[in-house]
Amino acid sequence: QHDQLTQEKTSAALAALQLVKDGMVLGLGSGSTVKIFMKLLAEKVKREGLKVYIVSSSYDTSILAATLGLIEVSLNSFTPDLSIDGADTVFPDKSLIKGGGGCLLREKLVNYYAREYVIIVDHTKLRAKLDGPLTVPIEVHPMSYSQVVKALRETFNAESSLRVFSEKKLGPAITDNGGFLLDATLKWSGDMRILEEKLKSLPGVLETGIFAIKKPSKIFVGQGESYTVIE
Ligand code: A5P
Repeated sequence: QHDQLTQEKTSAALAALQLVKDGMVLGLGSGSTVKIFMKLLAEKVKREGLKVYIVSSSYDTSILAATLGLIEVSLNSFTPDLSIDGADTVFPDKSLIKGGGGCLLREKLVNYYAREYVIIVDHTKLRAKLDGPLTVPIEVHPMSYSQVVKALRETFNAESSLRVFSEKKLGPAITDNGGFLLDATLKWSGDMRILEEKLKSLPGVLETGIFAIKKPSKIFVGQGESYTVIE
């Protein structure tokens, strides 16, 4: 199972790699699928002598970029031509839930301000319908996390838990931006853009893991040794 998922992530990453051209500024998301893409990218850059610059969405991605010799530039100085990211859940209308790795805020910035973004996933991320509860990662300001938990309960009937570090560090998981993370479970049917907007409008919510207002141009879904594209 593990090997098959790695194979599918690799198939999706290879499909996205075909979009990379010399001179591009690439946004990079975070997570295991993006890491596979980055390794393939670094090989291609070396092999073909390309000039490629990356805009990172996390310390985790920046650290791997440095190890691989990929050149990082800032989002303030550059607009990514294309951004490549993973996702935790993909719906048929191309809306996404992200943030399983806690990097949602910077991922949203990089994907939103890129000219376009594509998503690379294995087939287990696909969800056919908006039925049943969704679990949405939400980054919140530490000063008001418990007020946000209450407001989410009142507004969305959501049950939220504060994410904690699981190894070698006690206490709340602190994001790259100094925020806390809530995992909110709620029911929603209808347009995910409205959910994204409504969650974001609560003071204390710094960003949400719903990516629906700006959708990816393409989603590459690994299927065994091949892939399919959702456009
Ligand atoms: C990081 O916060 C997430 O948004 C990732 O994009 C997501 O968790 C995908 O990770 P994998 O590629 O490891 O599944």
